[in-house]
Order: sequence, then C-alpha cells, then structure tokens
Amino acid sequence: MEREILRLGWRTDKETRVVSAGDLRGFCRDCGSRRVFLVADARVMSLHSQAVLRGVGDRLLGTFVMEASEKLKTPRTLQALWSELHRAGVSRNDIVLAVGGGIVLDVGAFAASTWMRGVRLVLAPTTLLAQVDACLGGKTAVNVGGVRNQAGTFYPADLVWICAEILTTLPEREYRCGCGEILKTAILSGSAELQEIAGGLPLPGRERTEWSRRAASACLAFKAGIVEADPEEKSDRILLNLGHTLGHALESATGFGLNHGEAVSLGILASSIMARRLGAPAGFTEEVLSCLCGLGLPVRLPRRITGLSRFLRRDKKACPEGTTWILPFGWGDCRPTLLSPDAEGELVAGALEEIS
Ligand SMILES: NC(=O)c1ccc[n+]([C@@H]2O[C@H](COP(=O)([O-])OP(=O)(O)OC[C@H]3O[C@@H](n4cnc5c(N)ncnc54)[C@H](O)[C@@H]3O)[C@@H](O)[C@H]2O)c1
Repeated sequence: MEREILRLGWRTDKETRVVSAGDLRGFCRDCGSRRVFLVADARVMSLHSQAVLRGVGDRLLGTFVMEASEKLKTPRTLQALWSELHRAGVSRNDIVLAVGGGIVLDVGAFAASTWMRGVRLVLAPTTLLAQVDACLGGKTAVNVGGVRNQAGTFYPADLVWICAEILTTLPEREYRCGCGEILKTAILSGSAELQEIAGGLPLPGRERTEWSRRAASACLAFKAGIVEADPEEKSDRILLNLGHTLGHALESATGFGLNHGEAVSLGILASSIMARRLGAPAGFTEEVLSCLCGLGLPVRLPRRITGLSRFLRRDKKACPEGTTWILPFGWGDCRPTLLSPDAEGELVAGALEEIS
C-alpha cells in the first residue's frame, strides 16, 4: 500500500531586480566583493568590450565568449562552459554575468543554474528581443538534436540590467525580430500602450531608443505579473507561448533559416488565422497583419515548408490527446485550446496555405 509521508514546498524567496540604465557601468555595483565570470556574445564583445569590461572592473575571474548561433546553443557548448567555470575556479559565492541576446542569456543562465547547483546570476540583454522578453522569467535552455529548447531549467536572475543605448549597434533585421515579441505581448495584454508601441518601429535614432525603453518597461511589467503568479508554467504562463508552437517548429524545419522573432511573428499570424477559422472576428487577423507589416516583419513563408509535423510533435505542450495552442481571438483575448492531432493538422495546413 502506498502512503504519502512527506510534501516539500520549493517556492524560493528569490527576487529579480530589473534596472534600466544609460550604460553598463553599474551592472556590478551590487556585487560587493564577489568575483564575476563573464559569458558574452562574440559580436557584442567586438563592439562593446571596453564598456563591458569597465563595468566588471577588477572582479573578473574568467570569460567565455560564444557566437550567438542556434546551432551552438547545445549541450556541447554548455559542457565547454562548465569546463571554463571549473578552470577559473568559480565557487558558490561568485557571479555568472551573461551579456548578449537570448541565445547567450539562455546558455549562460543554464550554466549558472547548474554550476555548484546554482550561483548568482546577472543578465545584461543586448538585443531588443532579450530586453523585452528573454531576460525575465527564469527559463534557461539549450537545443537538443536540432529541436528548440529541449533541455533547460527554471532559474530567475538576481539582477537584469537593461541599457537601451546598446541596441544602436543591433542589425536592423535583429531589431525587427524583437518587435515580434512586443506584438505578442500587446495581443496578450490588450494594453492600449503596447498596442500603440506595436503600431510601428521608429527610424534609428533617439526616438527609437526611447521607444525601445518604453517597450521593455511595458512588456516586462506584463510578463512579471504572469510569471510571478505561475513561475513554472503550470497554468496561465502557458499564454506566453502565443506564436511559439508553430514558431519553434518553423525555426527547426527551416534549419534555423528563420530567426526566432521572424518565426514567432509568422506563428502569431498563423494562430490568428486558426482562431478565425474557429470563430474569431476576421478583422482581428487584418489588424495583426497590418502591425506585422508596420514593424517590417514577415507575413509570408519564405519557402515551402516540409516536415513540420515532426517538430510539432516535439512541442513541450504536446500530449497524447493533442497539443494546447494559444489562439488569439482579439486584443487581450487569447485562449489555450487543446487541438487533437487531426484538428491541428487541418487548421495548421489551412493557415499555412493562406500565408504561403
Ligand atoms: N529564456 C526566455 O524566456 C526566452 C524568451 C524568448 C527567446 N528566448 C531565446 O532567445 C533566442 C533568440 O535571441 P535573440 O533574438 O536575442 O538573438 P541572438 O541571441 O541570436 O542575437 C541575435 C544577433 O544579434 C547579435 N547581437 C546581440 N546584441 C547585439 C548588439 N547590441 N549589437 C550588435 N549585434 C548584437 C548577436 O551576435 C546575434 O548575431 C532564442 O534562442 C530563443 O529561444 C528565450
């Protein structure tokens, strides 16, 4: 006979402080005497190494510089990073500081969460996508076998340091990728401010920097509310996957020929078409389409996509009965919807046909 003898609560009292600043100088101000191991994006270091290293100062214990490529967001890279943490003698009292876009933050945070079973973590996101989304919420990940984010942990950062000025060197295509996550948050939240922000991306310059700062504050405030209530995605946090079920499959099926933000944008558009086929007002899909065009994001598949169902089956939300999709029926009205494999196949095929 079985009998439960113990239940142990795991809710930590850890807090994430998010700071918006004009430069990187202060990101180690709270570190005290702790030493810092830096995990950094190679491109960011080629452009901003002076600012990054000045911010770390004489606390620097070691550095791991990596290319931001989905093909390198793997267990092999994680293992190489662990070896460097070992070589540098990183201890429980030290800090892992990750500086870069979502790829470097996901890998750096995974290493911090597993090294000595968890060391302090500071994140300095340097892409728009990472500033409006990936830096907050504690998800860490690597890809396995070409499938997105198959292994990972939940491990919130102690400090997130957001500097909108660092985005001035971001390539235009990457800037636009971040806009996809902003549109996602605008749809989920139904917030008038975010809807206005998602209405269009200003030209490079002061106005764009200010726009990015506003976008990060508004998106992170919304995400914080969801994540605080459901840190480990047991209920409402699933909503944040809007556009991602199809987006991840598109990324994998194109061999990462589409960037994350582009794939998610197509995923949002296709989900709105699927919702329309289930009764959502047709005008809403038109509004999504118009926002995507205003933000310079793709609204058509780049080519004929094959083998998508293999990747859809690997989705973390897939179960024998089907997969829970987040379908947008309007601004602020997104519904988790369990689709059987047959229903999914039919709706996805119809939506892809429309955006081919
Ligand atoms: N953990 C989460 O909650 C979460 C959320 C969303 C996305 N993600 C992950 O984020 C990843 C995508 O991240 P991303 O879109 O930030 O892209 P990325 O990390 O691939 O970076 C994009 C490109 O921009 C370059 N770059 C970065 N900062 C720059 C700067 N300031 N100036 C010039 N170039 C710069 C990088 O070198 C790279 O070439 C995906 O792997 C996705 O799974 C994670």
